Parts: sequence; C-alpha cells; structure tokens
Amino acid sequence: MTSVGINGLGRIGRLLTRRLFERHDARAALRLTMCNEVADAATVAHLLKYDSTHGRFSQPVMTDGDHLNIVDQAVLLTHETAQSKVRWSDRDVNIVIDCTGVEFNRSSAAQHLGGSVSRVMLSQPASTDVDGTIIWGLNDSTLTPDMSVISAGSCTSNALMPVLSVIDEAFGIRAGIVTTIHSAMNDQPVIDAYHHTDLRKTRAAFNSVIPVETGLAQGVERFFPHLTHKISARALRVPTLNVSSLDVVVSVDCDTTSDEVNATLRQSLGRFGGVLAVNDEPLASCDFLGAEASSIVDATQTQVSGGRLIKVMIWFDNEWAFVNRMVDIALRVSEFVTEESSR
Ligand SMILES: NC(=O)c1ccc[n+]([C@@H]2O[C@H](COP(=O)([O-])OP(=O)(O)OC[C@H]3O[C@@H](n4cnc5c(N)ncnc54)[C@H](OP(=O)(O)O)[C@@H]3O)[C@@H](O)[C@H]2O)c1
Repeated sequence: MTSVGINGLGRIGRLLTRRLFERHDARAALRLTMCNEVADAATVAHLLKYDSTHGRFSQPVMTDGDHLNIVDQAVLLTHETAQSKVRWSDRDVNIVIDCTGVEFNRSSAAQHLGGSVSRVMLSQPASTDVDGTIIWGLNDSTLTPDMSVISAGSCTSNALMPVLSVIDEAFGIRAGIVTTIHSAMNDQPVIDAYHHTDLRKTRAAFNSVIPVETGLAQGVERFFPHLTHKISARALRVPTLNVSSLDVVVSVDCDTTSDEVNATLRQSLGRFGGVLAVNDEPLASCDFLGAEASSIVDATQTQVSGGRLIKVMIWFDNEWAFVNRMVDIALRVSEFVTEESSR
C-alpha cells in the first residue's frame, strides 16, 4: 500500500480525498495518511461531507483531535503554511499531492521530497523544469520511475490535448484559437474585492463573464512543439459553480466536413482509454456534472467552414474529471513505489 499525503484541501484537494476513498482501485493501492491545510479539522470535515456542487460524500467522516477519521482510516491533519515544515515522514508518506495552487518550479516543489517522500504531484501546470507533465491518455506512457516531480497539467489541458492530437493527426493543424469558458474559482471574489495580480479578478464572480489570463497556448507548445506560435488561447470565467467548456477553432491542411471530423474523433475513443468521449444529445453544462472523461466532444456543435476551418466544442467537469486523472497518475506512480520498496 502506498502512503499518500495531500497539501491543500480546497476544491481539488477535498474532491481528490473523496475519490481516494470511493474508487475501488484507489482503495486497493493508495492510503491517504496525512493532509496539510490551513483550515481547522472541523471545517475540513464539514466541507468534505457536504459539497454545494457534488452533493454529500458517500463515506463517513469524523474528527478526532488532529485527525480526520475517514471510513476506517485516521488521517493526520497539520496546518503548516511553509511546505518545508510539513513533516510528511511522520506518516511515512510516499507521494505528496500538492493542491494548494501555489506556483511551483522544480526546486520549490522538490521541498516536499526527502525522508519517506519520493514523488510529488502538482495539481496545476508547472515550469518546464519539472520531470514531466502528464496528460493521462495522451502521454502517460512517458511516466517513468525516475520522475520525482510531476505535474498533472490542468483540467483545461487534459480536455484540449487529446482532441488537438486527433485533429492534427487526421487533418494537419495550420493554426488555431482556443477559448476556455471556465466556471468560477476560489481565486475570484463573491463581490468586488482586491486582487493583487489581475484587475479583472477584482470583480464579483457571479455577476460577470470575466476574461482571465491563461497559459494554455504554452501548454500546447509543450505537447506539440511543431504547433509553437500557431495556437493562441484566451479564457473567460463564467458565473457557474462547475463544468467548463472549450471552443476550439483550427484551420487545417485538407478539406473536411463536420461529419468526418466527428467520425474521426469517434474512431479515436479507444486509443485514449476512456478520457475522451463524444456527446450526441442536446445537453447543457449542468448535464456534465460528475462526468469522469477529461474531454467530451459535443458532436452536435461541430462545424466546418469553407472545408478547412474546424470548430469543435468540448465539455469537461473541471473538478471531477481532473481529480480522477490525478488518481490515475497516483496509481501508476504507486506501482513504482511498491517495486522500489520490494527491492
Ligand atoms: N478548481 C478547478 O476546477 C481546478 C481544476 C484543475 C486544477 N486546479 C488547480 O488546482 C489548484 C487548487 O485549486 P482549487 O480550486 O482547489 O483552489 P482552492 O479551493 O483555493 O484550494 C486551495 C487550498 O489550499 C490551501 N492552501 C493554500 N496555501 C497553502 C499552504 N501553503 N499550505 C497548505 N494549504 C494551503 C488553501 O487554503 P486558504 O483558502 O486558506 O488559502 C485552500 O484550502 C490550483 O492550482 C488550480 O489551478 C483547479
């Protein structure tokens, strides 16, 4: 059994906790033994049990002093804000999954390493010097035992990259523009408030459609170097709690039709092991709440103009799908940890 620690029990950290106890494959291989979070145990337990977006947790949670008792597991909860002070080895943690949203490069993320900790996984894109950025289904075969600091990418890059790769292989992408239409997040205020880096994030989250910065274009270049400077991206935050969308427009090398684009994407589903899906029903964003696929192409919305300009719409549960991918990666990493400890 691989011992897991989570740093930061916000939206992603708490939902990851849920999946670690709900998924049978995770229960069999991963044991959550320690968490570090600013909030106190009673508040963490309450927010683990009750979630405005995903409903009640299916498993029991209790508090016992500085422990959360989840099902039959006592999880130590600490409250350090400096990551170098978190004593993961006290619980023999092997993999630290950092969900704080703190920006990392390799050396800052590596502060978690040492003692029992041999791997760190980040719940966000990191600088290019990390050992790997893994988009499950796309490049998970590149995940190797020598990688100790790994990024799981972003919910958005997990949604975009499989679709871009299929369209590029089939039709040859010349250029493109991607717009992320993302639900509100905890870095936005409920009513107007100060924000230190982005004036638009000073505005009330549930009153406006808000353009925000995005590094998605740099993410594309990381996975598809031949598309460097050919894909640009923008992002909008919209007043919904969860489930996001991507509006992908690409010009391609050869003539095609919307039916052919949809058929090509459908034929590729098996290759991505369940992370890519296609929807044919007339649905709205709320219908994708709880969807586990990283990327759901809405075939009803695919358009082609003039033969070579393709527009594809993708849905994704930005929280749920992403935490499932982090569990997928953690399971693979746990195989490496188990193998190393049996030597
Ligand atoms: N939400 C999504 O849809 C989504 C999807 C994919 C990836 N991500 C990425 O995942 C990361 C977390 O996002 P989130 O939505 O979960 O944010 P969040 O709800 O704000 O959660 C972050 C949590 O970490 C805590 N924290 C911050 N600094 C800490 C520290 N030094 N030590 C311990 N705990 C600390 C925060 O506590 P305080 O609130 O007290 O500061 C908060 O509880 C971000 O990088 C985000 O981009 C988010």
